[in-house]
Amino acid sequence: MLSCQAWPEPVVRVQALAESGLSSIPSRYIKPLSQRPSNTFSSTPHQPSQTHHEHLHDHISAHQHANIPVIDLEQLFSKNESVRKEGLKKMAEACSEWGFFHVVNHGVSHELMKSARELWREFFNQPLEVKEEYANSPTTYEGYGSRLGVQKGATLDWSDYFFLHYMPPSVRNQAKWPAFPTSLRKVIAEYGEGVVKLGGRILHTISVNLGLKEDFLLNAFGGESEVGACLRVNFYPKCPQPDLTLGLSPHSDPGGMTILLPDDFVSGLQVRKGDEWITVKPVPNAFIINIGDQIQVLSNATYKSVEHRVIVNSNQDRVSLAMFYNPRSDLLIQPAKELVTKERPALYSPMTYDEYRLFIRLNGTCGKAQVESLTSKSSLQG
Ligand code: OGA
Ligand code: NI
Repeated sequence: MLSCQAWPEPVVRVQALAESGLSSIPSRYIKPLSQRPSNTFSSTPHQPSQTHHEHLHDHISAHQHANIPVIDLEQLFSKNESVRKEGLKKMAEACSEWGFFHVVNHGVSHELMKSARELWREFFNQPLEVKEEYANSPTTYEGYGSRLGVQKGATLDWSDYFFLHYMPPSVRNQAKWPAFPTSLRKVIAEYGEGVVKLGGRILHTISVNLGLKEDFLLNAFGGESEVGACLRVNFYPKCPQPDLTLGLSPHSDPGGMTILLPDDFVSGLQVRKGDEWITVKPVPNAFIINIGDQIQVLSNATYKSVEHRVIVNSNQDRVSLAMFYNPRSDLLIQPAKELVTKERPALYSPMTYDEYRLFIRLNGTCGKAQVESLTSKSSLQG
């Protein structure tokens, strides 16, 4: 199996670079013109019926007014059937039109969310030597890291992160979690429990919306005690030239579903909508949920994972906690039989998540290239 023992170049901590007070960023963080934040999708041809002026107008209005939908979880579990149905319909639309939504009334304590974010901020604000004790390698990615992928000479993103395994319990190793701040390990465990529970409830409602048994997706992921969950805490330092780089390059999340706790004040996440990047506006105490590639496969592309990226700014650091809720890594993932018909044959061949994630671990972020390559492969075979 392909694997890599070490990073191809000496690791540079972006936070240390930012704190060194430089006024221009090193060339390895400078994105090609077409990938910079101000760029929309110039490679996508404009609608022939649209004049340039109309196109520009659409562009501006979309950016000013659009935001991802807000879903009320209490509504989805309401005892009142019409309330519940209305909520489910709203969520189905969010899943197919955006692949992203905010969730409120989600049952996770707001205090716990706040303390998890603040303790992680404290972790990143410790001296470099302390963080370096947790330096990660591309074999497991566990620990303190500053890049995704091992391609020599790759353009890098303006962020550092901490990656750890939470579920299943057999892969959880608290010794690899930060020992300081002292309450962090305890808070990670509590936070993980709440967020994984929330993930289960959301999978339940997505299954119902797909016309499947309510426990279909959870079972396909290995069941409550065997699902995979890992946490990536992203730290996006302020950047002297934010127009030249990205905090995180365009990608879809490779796993099942992501439960993101964004920064409470600083925005930065952008979601692709057609040929626009829409900046997500913060909703207090909400989580952001997005569909990953494995739900795209299981739903036979009824729901698609959606590309997103992160922009940075020159005034404020940004912290986010992404909990990746994944299938157990050795289970074969394939389109649900119920969603495969003569008219709509299986778009993807079976693959374990272990095999699937190897790609991103070697190549880093690459838009939706990976899940799309599966489609073309299987349609060639079929
Ligand atoms: C991710 C991600 C978004 C953010 O970690 O996969 O997309 O806002 N994060 O940090
Ligand atoms: Ni992501």
